[in-house]
Amino acid sequence: MQNTTKAQAHPNIALVKYWGKQDKQGNLPATPNLSITLSNLTTTTEVQNKQNGTADEFHLNGEQVEDDKLHGWLQTLRKHFDVPAVVIKSANNFPTSAGLASSASGFAALITAINTHCDLGLNEEMRSNWARQGSASAARSIHGGFVALVPPQWEAMRLAPSAHWPLEVVVAVTSRAAKSVNSTQGMQRSKRTSPFYNAWLRGAADDYSAASEAISTRNFTQLAEVAELSCLKMHSLMLTSIPTLSYWTPASVACMDCIRTLRDQGHQVFFTVDAGPQIKAVCTAESRSAVSAALAQVPGVLEIIDCGLGEGARIIDQ
Ligand code: DP6
Repeated sequence: MQNTTKAQAHPNIALVKYWGKQDKQGNLPATPNLSITLSNLTTTTEVQNKQNGTADEFHLNGEQVEDDKLHGWLQTLRKHFDVPAVVIKSANNFPTSAGLASSASGFAALITAINTHCDLGLNEEMRSNWARQGSASAARSIHGGFVALVPPQWEAMRLAPSAHWPLEVVVAVTSRAAKSVNSTQGMQRSKRTSPFYNAWLRGAADDYSAASEAISTRNFTQLAEVAELSCLKMHSLMLTSIPTLSYWTPASVACMDCIRTLRDQGHQVFFTVDAGPQIKAVCTAESRSAVSAALAQVPGVLEIIDCGLGEGARIIDQ
């Protein structure tokens, strides 16, 4: 076993969203979902053996923290593998727990580091399976490019590499605060209380088929239509949950209007938004600088981060 093992992974953003789980074990999404893995936003995670004591230690962005989800996940992992007490140091180069999928890149980097550190012998499918048990969206960050998380295996698979269609993503950060209701709690609430939940389940397979077809034929208009619809349907579930889940700021709404205006002007761009106030504008390379410039002018936008499509989780510095 080596001293320290380091892995990196990137967040992904779903174009066909996951919001709601099956009632079975294993953190299985209720619906097929599909994402793109980003470049530039990066989680770096280091794993080393704990020298004194048997309790795991977790540091996030330089501070020691307690994380029940992580402890539970490590306990489950230890039912299957011999994993000693570890010190985990994880850092994000972007706002944490604010709708930028830090748990996706976090669990993807973590299982990748532990796999090598402890010689678990997991292939990509198995790493994806373990990442999903931490956070279902993390299953997708094991791979780069265009990624699907679908039944019956619920191990993410790469639909196409980044080079197939090098889309760009402009992230407009409208708040750096951590979200008040996390995704796991939020989706449980929506399943229990939103009157639209069953309609959401019924529409997901069609959305997934339309998006995967749009990707294979590089049909931007079709992808834009289905991705915005899936995003807005998910936010309708959130808004109609009791109590309501309202993740947008006024600046988020203004960014969506700005993106619609850019599209009316002929730019190839659409928006997507996760459980947080940040707006991700997916666009072609030709439109990227116009999209960045326009979003930077929207009142309330704090920062613009330009990304391309990124690689899957991997070991670094070995
Ligand atoms: C809005 O994967 O964070 O980003 O599995 O409960 O950890 P858990 O949830 P998580 O949810 C992601 C929700 C989303 C949409 C998506 O990424 O598909």
